[in-house]
Amino acid sequence: MNADILNKGCVESGRDAVIAKFEKRFNCNPDFVSIAPGRVNLIGGHVDYNGGLVLPMAVDRHTFIAGAKGEEAGILTVHSIRENESFVVDLACPMSPAQPNWTNYVRGVVHGFLSRGIELPGLNMLIDSTIPSGSGLSSSASLEVATAGILEAASGVMLKGNEKPKLCQQAEHEFANVPCGIMDQFSVTFAKREHMLLLDCRDESIEQVAFDHEHLALAVINSQVRHELSQSEYAMRRESCESISTTLGLESLRELTWNRLEQSRGQLDELSFLRAEHVVRENERTLEFVHYMKNADWFQAGEMLYQSHASLREKFQVSCAELDELVDAARQVGLTGGVLGARMTGAGFGGCVIMLVEREKASDVVSKIVEDYNRSGATLSRPRASGFVAESAEGAQVIKCAVG
Ligand code: GLA
Repeated sequence: MNADILNKGCVESGRDAVIAKFEKRFNCNPDFVSIAPGRVNLIGGHVDYNGGLVLPMAVDRHTFIAGAKGEEAGILTVHSIRENESFVVDLACPMSPAQPNWTNYVRGVVHGFLSRGIELPGLNMLIDSTIPSGSGLSSSASLEVATAGILEAASGVMLKGNEKPKLCQQAEHEFANVPCGIMDQFSVTFAKREHMLLLDCRDESIEQVAFDHEHLALAVINSQVRHELSQSEYAMRRESCESISTTLGLESLRELTWNRLEQSRGQLDELSFLRAEHVVRENERTLEFVHYMKNADWFQAGEMLYQSHASLREKFQVSCAELDELVDAARQVGLTGGVLGARMTGAGFGGCVIMLVEREKASDVVSKIVEDYNRSGATLSRPRASGFVAESAEGAQVIKCAVG
């Protein structure tokens, strides 16, 4: 096994586990293991599909896919450990979305390869994951990008530049029916360990910004809540942003300035005005956050996170009671307890809150927040929260397994 690009215990043990599970299921060694991380978004909430500025970081929770050329040409056999389900695809037949839904993330990516004229061999794939699903940590984008990695390795055709994340985003739009932006697939593909990825979603340019992991850490608290409306509300937010741009004659809300927004009060209803205000200010906040982080002004950086959350709650209206309670709890712990700032991450309506914390107090913060939240919710019928201190991770990679 050539594992020289990996140096993290959790990645190595996940990789070894997926190899062992593959061997047990398919009775042969895998040729490749494709590994893709999950991500948190530090700031820049709901601006990616508005051509905005986002700042994700890949975290040490991963999708692992082991793959080997199958005996039957043109047949793809896929098994998911998490779902405890398999499905088979005949590569000669036209691909379309199907049930169960998790298979669409794989089907969509396979379709993307085939529609580009890339020939795929018969293949056996086994998927394992340590990313909690439906929690805003991008388990879907991670599955898509890991699938693309296996297909690149198996076909010998490497997708160039931004083509891989774009193909994966298209898979999510067309097969999973989620009109997501480009942030998740870009961060899962291009992330660098110990860095945040400043992505300009207008021109798709990237700057790797160092994260001072010696002094800082990210606590991730998973509310384990996922409100029913999340998918439809997400699509509605995107639609409403696009319709505001059309009304104002702009290509996207990224073009909107404060002046222009002020002048357009008469053209927009109250809710549209709030949505647009969030986008304009959130783009500014992303740059301010980066500036403060580069200057080690962590207090101000943390304030940006709180402000981002308040705006997502009040203006963009994608938060929920559980996330708000966790962010309030972070404020209560405050600077003395080592918390600099907090906000929801991902699409909202449940999922995770991230907290920027002093590294040496990080695990105490996680325990305190989770215990207090679960205690105060003991009489409520809500899921129990869980949490962890996230370490930054490298973007997606594929390892060739040595024979024998
Ligand atoms: C989800 C989407 C992303 C982005 C975030 C909100 O994670 O997949 O494209 O829009 O929500 O910032």
